[in-house]
Amino acid sequence: MGPEIARYDGHAEWYDETFPPLVSEQQESFLRDGLGAGRGEICLDVACGTGRYGRVLASAGYRPVGFDISADQLRLARNRLAAAVRADARLLPVRDASVRVAAGMFFHTDTEDFAAVVRDVARCLSPGGRFVYLGLHPCFVGPFVYRLDESQDLTLTFVPGYGNVGWASRASGDGSRIGGRVGFHHKTLAGFLGAFAEAGLVIRTVRELTVPGHPVLPWEMGILADKTRV
Ligand SMILES: C[S@@+](CC[C@H](N)C(=O)[O-])C[C@H]1O[C@@H](n2cnc3c(N)ncnc32)[C@H](O)[C@@H]1O
Repeated sequence: MGPEIARYDGHAEWYDETFPPLVSEQQESFLRDGLGAGRGEICLDVACGTGRYGRVLASAGYRPVGFDISADQLRLARNRLAAAVRADARLLPVRDASVRVAAGMFFHTDTEDFAAVVRDVARCLSPGGRFVYLGLHPCFVGPFVYRLDESQDLTLTFVPGYGNVGWASRASGDGSRIGGRVGFHHKTLAGFLGAFAEAGLVIRTVRELTVPGHPVLPWEMGILADKTRV
């Protein structure tokens, strides 16, 4: 396992302004349904970034503890989470089977080895525990699709490249310019869903979410995946 690069170091302020902690109604209801009611226990916020989802996790009854590889992102996350720890999410500093709930938002396009992260999250979960994940839709957001005209003329432009797994050499077509700053690791739907299955988690729910300004096709995908009790 090679070292993970902290690609967001030096970009935290930009990230926080571009992606402020505003959670849409759809996201909030997906996360709340998936998380269930906490009783003040810890919820891992894997690759927490600036801690944008701290409010949702806390208001669902959890103590959000964030982990991220970027010290710069964590600087902002500390104001929004109960604790924020610098760690590679492939090797979380968490005891085996010690947490009931883990959440992860919008990071599968930021790591080459998403499967290794999901594996380590599964290790941390207690039997019956749950991983709630929300991220960009692997089929409809990426370097192979241009979606900036969608709200005006209801068209998207697809170009070849859906099958090219890896760091994108082209912008992600979403207008945020995030790919040019920190990179964008494209995965197919099979690779994305396969990460949960290979970690031994059982996928209970797959939700496709649309977002304002992108009415034609879903923009986000939410997954609820459970560790079996055995
Ligand atoms: C797009 S941001 C998402 C942050 C936050 N979850 C959110 O939704 O705003 C992706 C984050 O993943 C982090 N990241 C990428 N690979 C990581 C790894 N292996 N371990 C920990 N954090 C990682 C980056 O540093 C970055 O903060």
